[in-house]
Amino acid sequence: MSVKTITKKTGLRGEITVPGDKSISHRSIMLGSIALGTTEVTHFLNGADCLSTIACFREMGVEIERKNGVVLIHGKGMRGLSAPENALNVGNSGTTTRLMSGILAGQQFTSVMSGDTSLNSRPMGRIIAPLQEMGANIKSINGNNCAPLQIKPGILHGISYRSPVASAQVKSAVLLAGLYAEGDTALREPSLSRNHTELMLLSFGAPVTTVFHTDGSATAEISPCRELYGRQICIPGDISSAAYFIAAGALIPNSELLIKNVGTNMTRAGFLKVCKEMGADLTLLNQSAAGGEPRADILIRTSRLKGTTVAGDLIPTLIDEIPMIAVMAACAEGRTVIKDAAELKVKETNRIDTVTAGLRAMGADITPTDDGMIIEGKGAPDNSNFPLTGADVRSFLDHRIAMSFAIAGLAAKGETKIQDSQCVDISYPDFFGTLNQICPA
Ligand code: S3P
Repeated sequence: MSVKTITKKTGLRGEITVPGDKSISHRSIMLGSIALGTTEVTHFLNGADCLSTIACFREMGVEIERKNGVVLIHGKGMRGLSAPENALNVGNSGTTTRLMSGILAGQQFTSVMSGDTSLNSRPMGRIIAPLQEMGANIKSINGNNCAPLQIKPGILHGISYRSPVASAQVKSAVLLAGLYAEGDTALREPSLSRNHTELMLLSFGAPVTTVFHTDGSATAEISPCRELYGRQICIPGDISSAAYFIAAGALIPNSELLIKNVGTNMTRAGFLKVCKEMGADLTLLNQSAAGGEPRADILIRTSRLKGTTVAGDLIPTLIDEIPMIAVMAACAEGRTVIKDAAELKVKETNRIDTVTAGLRAMGADITPTDDGMIIEGKGAPDNSNFPLTGADVRSFLDHRIAMSFAIAGLAAKGETKIQDSQCVDISYPDFFGTLNQICPA
């Protein structure tokens, strides 16, 4: 098992790009596979999760080529997938499992999806319930509302569903099944979760709309579709990956980093708001958009950070960045409260527990709560102290925990060791390469 040793640094410098957005990469393979024609994808994320999605669709007869950094998906059309011979291996990827279940529910063949230990213990009842309501023949094989899941042919009809959680994975599963249903399908969520599925479906020719309600909730609606049409997709850098370097640039003394071509979709950009709220010196440059997905270069300079409150509708827009925010909070001045984030418990690990374990090992003052955490930052106004102490930190095989604590190690006194650091492969295989690139020789 790999261990990375990180030591304190000052003066981070450089211009970097981060890999393509994970959520958009998954969706490009899924929609490209069930579209007519060829979908050409640039800046695809070569992470293990997205490779799981590619492997699953190849198992269902889709030809997916990789040439000079471009992914070519030769779509089979909405009804052209073929029955997989074996159980589909979804690895560590919740996105693959939940989104693909919506597509599989509409097929005329039986399929099984299974993943690793973490994946097979994550809640799938949240997609099983609405899909069954639509007429899908989906079940948890062990009867525990987790994968392995078995999906048999069923006749789907549209529903109007109220999701108890703001989850893009639940929303996407239902919308994708809605493509194959009789009648219209609507899903209302308590606040708007990432909308990459809606944007990409629209650009592939599906009739999707979103209605915003005065109470902050949002309804996505889709009508059944005869066919989708493949297209070119240029994926922006993943803001969830950029977040580690934005945090590093802000936390480490005498730093200035430019992160090029980062996706800034407002349903994902909560981290930028929190950075500003904490006092980060952060500027967006060269703003543009493609395929409905906005992007920009992000300039970040060393900043004096203060504590903040992260709660409510903001949570779904930064859910994957909370481990990084917690590390920043520990190095900031004053208290940070993170609440309304019980979803942290059902990610690749229970991130309330794994963040608490890591930050406590590094000497931070953190109190876990039922829906988040409270952190008493130990950063002094003049940056004269060491808010964290180097330690042996367990990643628990969670990529976001490994990367957040690698950044913590840059700010800590002494040496930090990240256990099982290879798990960064899930979303950012060259994370440590980029880190080396910005560290002074
Ligand atoms: C994702 C949605 C989020 C996020 C995950 C990717 C997606 O999960 O945490 O990493 O691509 O739809 P939920 O929508 O379940 O919160």
